[in-house]
Amino acid sequence: MMDDATGQQQFEHHFKAAPSFSVRSPGRINLIGEHIDYCGGLVMPMAIAQSTQGWYRFNGTSKIRIYSTRFETVTVFNPHDVIQPPRGTWEDYVQGILNLGAHRQIGRGFDLWVTSDLSAGGLSSSASFLGLLALINHHALTGESVDLIDVSQRLTLALLCRQVENQFIGVPSGIMDPASVLIGGLVTLDCRTLQFNRLQPIPASHRLVIMDTGVPRTLAASGYAQRVAEISAIDAQIARVNPTAAAKRYSGLATLTLDAAEATLSLLKSDVLKARARHIFSEQARVEQAALTLAQQDMEGLGRLMNDSHQSLKIDYEVSCPELDLITQLSRASGLALGSRMTGAGFGGCAISLVPVSRLEAHQALVANAYEQQTGIKPRLLVSEVADGAAITAC
Ligand code: GLA
Repeated sequence: MMDDATGQQQFEHHFKAAPSFSVRSPGRINLIGEHIDYCGGLVMPMAIAQSTQGWYRFNGTSKIRIYSTRFETVTVFNPHDVIQPPRGTWEDYVQGILNLGAHRQIGRGFDLWVTSDLSAGGLSSSASFLGLLALINHHALTGESVDLIDVSQRLTLALLCRQVENQFIGVPSGIMDPASVLIGGLVTLDCRTLQFNRLQPIPASHRLVIMDTGVPRTLAASGYAQRVAEISAIDAQIARVNPTAAAKRYSGLATLTLDAAEATLSLLKSDVLKARARHIFSEQARVEQAALTLAQQDMEGLGRLMNDSHQSLKIDYEVSCPELDLITQLSRASGLALGSRMTGAGFGGCAISLVPVSRLEAHQALVANAYEQQTGIKPRLLVSEVADGAAITAC
């Protein structure tokens, strides 16, 4: 995390004036409830200390100038320009927010210096960046003291971020990541109703360790879209026998009752679709269980659910990869972690393990060494810390 003085200095260096506000938007891990947010499921994300950070000021023009440390250049956006089709770069996110977030009509320009320590895959760097842009955009539009925006406004901004991903960037992602980034903390989030419960943090005796496999999420975009399409195919088959389900805009597959879930499994002829549906139903049940184990501080129980979740994502949903399987397996086999699973979309990126504090160092050494020996890749293991939702502070 960058300290405020350095951020302000960097801003001044590039924009020759002092910033008026700083803004921080966290990344997230997901404890459990993977690949069910786009089926209306219950998920358990946790906002983390790693974040996107920015310093900005309104510049009195309609232009937006952004310096990103990742690309070491200032890019200028004119909100009234013709919208460019997405080009697969970070500028797409800015354009998407300006376009869908009503900024084009207002055009209140700002200078922004932005940095991030969310380089590992699977920690939701894009939702974090979008959350930061959505907050600044909201500030520009309303002039409101954004540190006071309430939960429903935060969820509205999360929906905007999702819309940018879905409609502008072209990734059919769910609501979990932007919602987590904007509401912060550890929560259960019902992705159908957007109701959420703030949960007690993991007890101080245990930590969630983030394990970066160092493997880029190569198939993430195409594999993810393929899974979403498979869920639509399942929905279409349900709709054929139950026409009222056909009108729904988003899938509600994860919300089916036990009976309806069983009927769906016997309806599906394709083994692949059956397996996908099996993951959705079992993962939803695991999240409900996980909320109970957490409330009872039953860490062993939580660990077992995490292991089962990984297995289901590997076998039934097929979104893991050899390195995620290896690192989680090494973590479990060490006998030092209570549970381990991939987190996020999969196909590379990060896994998480639940580890008692007294065993953190031994776990880190054992897993990192064995993983490096077998893959030639040095993994990064870091102990996660829970963080608040995205926020703006006056400088
Ligand atoms: C990505 C998506 C989320 C969610 C996860 C998998 O992070 O952005 O919406 O689907 O994958 O749980």
